[in-house]
Amino acid sequence: MYPTQKPEALLERIIKASSNEGDLVADFFCGSGTTAAVAEKLGRKWITTDLGRFSIHTARKRLIGVQREIKVAGKDFRAFEVLNLGKYERQFFMEDLTAKDAKNTQRAQKQIDSPGDLGETFANLAVKRTTKEDLYVELILEAYKAKRVTGHSHLHGTKSGRFVHVGPLDVPVTQTRLTEIFEECRQKLYTQVDVLGFEFEMGLTPQFIQELKEKGVSVTLKYIPKDVFDKRAVEKGQVRFFDVAYVNAKEKVKGKTVTITLTDFVTHYTQDDVEELQQSMRSGSKVVIEDGQIIKVEKDKNGIINRTLLTKNWFDWIDYWAIDFDYLSKKEIIKVQNEKGETEEVWSGNYIFENEWQSFRTKKSSTLEFTSITHEYKQSGRYKVMVKVVDILGIDTSKIMEVNIV
Ligand SMILES: C[S@@+](CC[C@H](N)C(=O)[O-])C[C@H]1O[C@@H](n2cnc3c(N)ncnc32)[C@H](O)[C@@H]1O
Repeated sequence: MYPTQKPEALLERIIKASSNEGDLVADFFCGSGTTAAVAEKLGRKWITTDLGRFSIHTARKRLIGVQREIKVAGKDFRAFEVLNLGKYERQFFMEDLTAKDAKNTQRAQKQIDSPGDLGETFANLAVKRTTKEDLYVELILEAYKAKRVTGHSHLHGTKSGRFVHVGPLDVPVTQTRLTEIFEECRQKLYTQVDVLGFEFEMGLTPQFIQELKEKGVSVTLKYIPKDVFDKRAVEKGQVRFFDVAYVNAKEKVKGKTVTITLTDFVTHYTQDDVEELQQSMRSGSKVVIEDGQIIKVEKDKNGIINRTLLTKNWFDWIDYWAIDFDYLSKKEIIKVQNEKGETEEVWSGNYIFENEWQSFRTKKSSTLEFTSITHEYKQSGRYKVMVKVVDILGIDTSKIMEVNIV
């Protein structure tokens, strides 16, 4: 609870007094999403943002709850979209690096052009040291608190005795890349490597990682968080890289219908990671990780300590899951300015995840459904179904499945 958080009744007064139905209401520090929830109930359009992962997740669940209430009342509600700024930040970062790279090359070129001095040698060094790729790798290694190493094809750094590979900025880390990293480690007799990536190819299952381990190289996959672009967070050493989780689900196709069942979910958190979960808990309680499980430790009035295992089963790690039954049907269109300064609509290269069905835990009801509704397709064809899971630390993991409807 934030000291500045407002109750619904107060926001209702503010929204009613300052807007009409159909108007747009914005709250850029949404917290648990009260402003948007009240705006939705009062028939206003809304935009809301927050930099906290938990806030966005809580607001998302709350707004779906409001939609459900409105639906039960037989009224119309609006669809909403949750956008992540990470991808755009990556694009901006790339453009910025390209600009810096161009400047460095120009500067070096000037020196090369002035004959008779040592310019050339230094200029070449300067170009080499500051290629776009280098700047990017250095930034990620700094955020990961790893040391840069050179002389390898796929290994960029080391941290606590493990080698580190920095995955690409714009495409997912693939199985082919992992195999190359593995080969280099095997040849050089290195046994441990952390692979950092913004995205990972869907087929990178725990079985594949297990195979590499059995062949002698222990590989850990970690997500590069978007805070790497936040200079202050990097300088303060606050950027955290979470291990990639794994989700599995099964589809049941019958005629033109499909039903999805969640079957497995694996995460690998450390004590540092659960500190965030700690903040969302009641004071007087503490969460600790022991043998890969989360345990809540509470002290009661009489000073007696109670330990509750929060993650007895794989599904205890899941807070929310949702399905888009036809993921590739909705391209994300964005407006950009072209060279003439005109606004153009272009496809961003991404798709919009539509929550067509979802199940989540709330304070009142902590049970989760594991099998989705039965979805009916109108036409035959191959469809990509996307399953998205948000775990109890607020981290997203997704899986794309293909279904063939005949
Ligand atoms: C008090 S809560 C907001 C309560 C909400 N406006 C209401 O009336 O119920 C403050 C929120 O601001 C968010 N926040 C703080 N600094 C921010 C920033 N620079 N950008 C976006 N959100 C921020 C915090 O994560 C927190 O969720």
